[in-house]
Amino acid sequence: MRIAMIGGGYVGLVSAACFAEFGTEVAVVETNPHRLAALQEGRIPIYEPGLDKLVADNIEAGRLSFGADIAAAVRGAEAIFIAVGTPPRNGDGHADLTYVFAAAEQVARAMDRFAVIVTKSTVPVGTGRRIAEIVRHARPDLDFEVASNPEFLREGSAIGDFMRPDRVVIGTQTERAGGSERSQEILRRLYRPLYLIEAPILFTSLESAELIKYAANSFLAMKISFINEMADLCERVGADVHDIARGIGLDGRIGRKFLHAGPGFGGSCFPKDTLALMRIAQEAGASSRLVEATVQVNDARKASMGARIMSACGGSVRGKVVAVLGLTFKPETDDMRDAPSIPIIHRLVENGASVRAFDPAGMDAARPVLPSQGVCYCEDAPDAADGADALIVLTEWNEFRAISPRRLRELMRGDVVIDLRNIWEPDAMADAGMRYSSIGRPD
Ligand code: NAD
Ligand code: UGA
Repeated sequence: MRIAMIGGGYVGLVSAACFAEFGTEVAVVETNPHRLAALQEGRIPIYEPGLDKLVADNIEAGRLSFGADIAAAVRGAEAIFIAVGTPPRNGDGHADLTYVFAAAEQVARAMDRFAVIVTKSTVPVGTGRRIAEIVRHARPDLDFEVASNPEFLREGSAIGDFMRPDRVVIGTQTERAGGSERSQEILRRLYRPLYLIEAPILFTSLESAELIKYAANSFLAMKISFINEMADLCERVGADVHDIARGIGLDGRIGRKFLHAGPGFGGSCFPKDTLALMRIAQEAGASSRLVEATVQVNDARKASMGARIMSACGGSVRGKVVAVLGLTFKPETDDMRDAPSIPIIHRLVENGASVRAFDPAGMDAARPVLPSQGVCYCEDAPDAADGADALIVLTEWNEFRAISPRRLRELMRGDVVIDLRNIWEPDAMADAGMRYSSIGRPD
């Protein structure tokens, strides 16, 4: 079987490499010349654990290739996946579908036989139907179907998430809308290795598949905003948010995952997808008050982190050296999109602090989005902590957990530790003589 993947970013590249690992021949089309050059030279332009080996193995096996020529990639492909970005449209929070529609038009012009055109990108309800119109308009002669196969992988654990998913969702056109068994049959064949491990594969309408993706991300975001509100309450009443998360999460109806309190959710998807779902609901004349509250709670939380840090530093950071551990929006990625570190470090520098920053994978991506002055990029975490008056943890990389409070005490000039990811224990910090502030835990 042969397929094409339009877009070789976080989702396109991981999906392509995993489909290739399933035994499918995958041609990836990438228009960004830097990303393409890296891929063609065998370098992986993003940080994702395990991806370099998976890509190298499948190039070697002749199943995975990269290029800019869309016609060559779609020739003979039974399924053509669109995995390009859908960032928020300037100003209004809608998903910007410019890249998706441009890709659909290019695909239409390049197709030479029946294929199913599948959106892997996260797209608003109705996008599949609009893609069908675009393709029909560009190539009235063409035999094709459209499908929606949203992706649920997380950065940092993308390969495992793709290879052993909780479920796969496939939305196809109804017969009345021009659909047939053909696209289901092709996608069932493509995902056959997942049938063998009994992963649930859910066939739905196009509209349902498109909405499932936004509903899933918004529900997870809502869980995070909920536990963050509980963390604030814990701080007021002397309870411990870790106990609350465990105590409620052990109820199978609630579930333990995504109840880790922190500085507010970031990344390339939860912030944009919650906003987009609000707009989808608004346009459909439906209510989305829970999602709106989720967004408001998160925005307020992110904005309040600066004040929390100032107060832990005695009201001012002017003239102080502040170490920052972790820049990316979560561990095991180099992705800086909507990372909480960005507004926090800007605020620290604007208020006169010198920042000593370290991130295991995100330093290159961080430089263009952090202040050009006032930030020193360090060799490692101990180097960042060296001589600092205060230290802030913004991303919970495992290597930071390994640093003991006593070691911090030796390295730092001051004694203030602000742990926005709760990676250390309050008692151990107190024993080491640190003034420790965490999220939702008694000091
Ligand atoms: P990305 O920006 O990393 O990758 C998109 C890639 O597509 C870029 O490299 C870009 O150069 C390329 N591209 C754009 N137009 C093209 C065209 N016409 N032809 C060929 N290449 C083209 O984005 P991403 O993080 O991979 O996200 C892609 C989509 O997947 C988004 O809709 C996102 O919401 C969704 N998604 C992302 C994740 C994630 O963890 N990042 C997870 C699930 C779903
Ligand atoms: C998220 C979803 O988990 C994926 O299922 C989805 O495919 C993806 O978005 C997407 O659509 O792009 P991702 O953004 O890679 O994946 O990372 P998450 O692990 O979900 O973390 C998102 C944000 O929430 C991070 O800022 C993280 O620190 C925060 N978070 C997560 C918490 O604050 N607490 C938690 O318990 C979990």
